[in-house]
Formats: sequence, structure tokens, C-alpha cells
Amino acid sequence: MHDFQVNLPPAVTEVKFFGNKKHITEELNAAKLLFVSDSNTQGFLGDIDFPSYVIPPGENYKSRQTVEKLSAWALREGAGRDAVFVAVGGGVVCDLTAFTASIYMRGVPVILVPTSLLSMVDASIGGKTGINFAGYKNVLGTFYPAREVRIVPEVLKSLSEREYFSGLAEVIKHALLQEGDLIKLIVEQREEIIRRNPAVLEELIRQSLLVKKSYIEEDPLEKGIRGHLNLGHTFAHALESSGNFSKWTHGEAVAWGIHKAMETGLLMGLTEPSYAGRVEKILRDFGYELDIPGLNSKDLLRIMQQDKKKREGRVLFVLQKSHGTTFFSEVPEEILKQVLS
Ligand SMILES: NC(=O)c1ccc[n+]([C@@H]2O[C@H](COP(=O)([O-])OP(=O)(O)OC[C@H]3O[C@@H](n4cnc5c(N)ncnc54)[C@H](O)[C@@H]3O)[C@@H](O)[C@H]2O)c1
Repeated sequence: MHDFQVNLPPAVTEVKFFGNKKHITEELNAAKLLFVSDSNTQGFLGDIDFPSYVIPPGENYKSRQTVEKLSAWALREGAGRDAVFVAVGGGVVCDLTAFTASIYMRGVPVILVPTSLLSMVDASIGGKTGINFAGYKNVLGTFYPAREVRIVPEVLKSLSEREYFSGLAEVIKHALLQEGDLIKLIVEQREEIIRRNPAVLEELIRQSLLVKKSYIEEDPLEKGIRGHLNLGHTFAHALESSGNFSKWTHGEAVAWGIHKAMETGLLMGLTEPSYAGRVEKILRDFGYELDIPGLNSKDLLRIMQQDKKKREGRVLFVLQKSHGTTFFSEVPEEILKQVLS
């Protein structure tokens, strides 16, 4: 076994990496462990002697109904305040389980074992939990950092190509936000990353988490600078929403959104052209589709305007001047129309 730790402050969470592990649940001990997985990830549990609840895969199950079912199951299992929930799955299982843990008996600990790349680099740290409600994503949620996060890069082997690249877009976003080793790794080890070489992946995930960690430490409740992590996300959200959150994966939308943020910055004279060119090349080299034909720009604009109502009349886009130099800016409608046309 080969394990090492990224030490995060207590408010953030502890992340442990595990190399070759037969079952990712080995060495977990608590008075009462309650395992939650979905039908694609339950196989990672191995033969455990603890209660386990398996949900069907998919965003639809990140719901109030599933929280109720999980809570009823925990009660049937006799789980009290000494219970610990363990989520083994992608962002859906992690968000759902952490949310349930945060309210069950006024809060019991949760351990996250993220199994998709997106959940490893994004959903597992930062303490955000949530479920979808009334047609809106993550509308009910809490800030509730996991007691521990265990990462086993090996499990990524079985992740579909599309889901893998979805997570990779968030890694690239992290690399753009901070100067450092991550961008070098992404450019120099592209082929190994695409091949999912576990050693390269471990380093990629570790570096990516360090970027997210630095934002969370500075702004744990997302009052300001943590919003930089939303680079590309205003555009991405509009695209995802226009496709009913099923046509494009989150990462496909984020890659496109980052490109749109660069184009916006260029048109406003705020982004250095050489940097925007470099970002575009990285995204294209990984095969992300940046010129999506047939998009309805009016629709996309309307969705962004709706966001505006929710945010007291202002939509602040996250833009970049250059690598690691990130800022918030309003964007004139005329520019948005040009970028989306
Ligand atoms: N809490 C946060 O800070 C945060 C951050 C980012 C995203 N999220 C949330 O995360 C969710 C998206 O996460 P996701 O992309 O992991 O989606 P997901 O949980 O739906 O997983 C994607 C698919 O991959 C499958 N899967 C997961 N791991 C696998 C593996 N190792 N092998 C084979 N199949 C596997 C799942 O069963 C599912 O079908 C969204 O609900 C989003 O809101 C939360």
C-alpha cells in the first residue's frame, strides 16, 4: 500500500490517498458505519459487514425523497449519534450522503470516498452538501465538511470516457487559476492523463485539490474570492440549462464556458491574447468541443438574465487577465451577444 496525505485545516477536511487497494473500504472503523453507494459503485465496497444502501445512479436521485429513504433506513439500522455515514460514489452520492449526515440526529460525521474524477477534485472538499429541489439544482444544502476524504485513483479505470473528461475540465480550470505545477503536468503528461495512468492521476488530483484548498481556506463560506472557482461557470450553467442538464456533461459545459470567458475578456480588452490562445490550445488538445453549432444565443442570454434576478440585478463573470490573474467583472449585453453568436 502506498498512502500519503494532503493536510487540510480542520474546517476543510483531511484527504488521504490510497494507491492499490483491493477494496476501498478497508481500514474503516467506527461504532456504526452506514455505507451509501449507487449501483455503479457498490462493487467497490467488497464484502463489508456493515449496512449498505444502494441508490440508482443519476442526478434525479439527489432528491428529498432519497434523503427520507436514507434516513428511514438509518433509523431501521438503529443508527444513533455515534453513526458515521460513508459515501462511496460520484458527486451525487457524496452530496446526498453528506447532506443527510448533516441533518441526521442534528449531524453525524460523514466520510467521503469519491469515485468519479469530478467528485475527487471538486465535490469532495469544501464542505458543500446539497440536493435538488423544485426543479433547481442544489437548492437545499448545508456547509458540512467531511471528517475524512479517501481517494483511490485506481477506481477511475471503470469510469466512462465522458464522465472522465467531465472531471478533467474542472482540473484544467484549477490549473488556470493558479500558477504552479498543475498546468505543467496537464500539458506535459496529456497522453498519460488520457490513458489514466494511476501515478500521474494521483499527482493530478493532489495538485488540483491543493488549488481548491487554497480558495476554501481563504473564503470557506464563498463570500468572495472562492467565487473564482466559477471560472467559465456562468456560461456553462446557461449551456447545461439550455440542454435540460442532460445534453452536455458539466465538464463539457465548463470547457466551453472557459473558452467563452476568454473570448469575453479578449473583446473587452481585459485578457492577454497570448494567454487566451494558450488556453484554447489546451482545451482543444484534450478534445473539448468549443464551437458548438446550432446554439440559441437568445436562450442562453435569457438564462443568464434569470441569474441576474437572483443576484440583485448583477451578474458578475469570472474573467482572467492571464494565468493566475483572475477577477470578477460585469459584461455588457452587446459583448455577450457577440460571444454567443
Ligand atoms: N459539493 C460540491 O462542492 C460539488 C462540486 C461539484 C459538483 N457537485 C455535484 O456533483 C454531482 C456530479 O458529480 P459526478 O459528475 O460525479 O456525477 P455522478 O455522481 O452522477 O457520477 C457520474 C456517473 O458515473 C458513475 N460512476 C461514478 N464513479 C464511477 C466509477 N469509478 N466507475 C464507474 N462508474 C462510476 C455514477 O454511477 C454515475 O452514473 C452534481 O450533482 C453536482 O452538483 C458538488
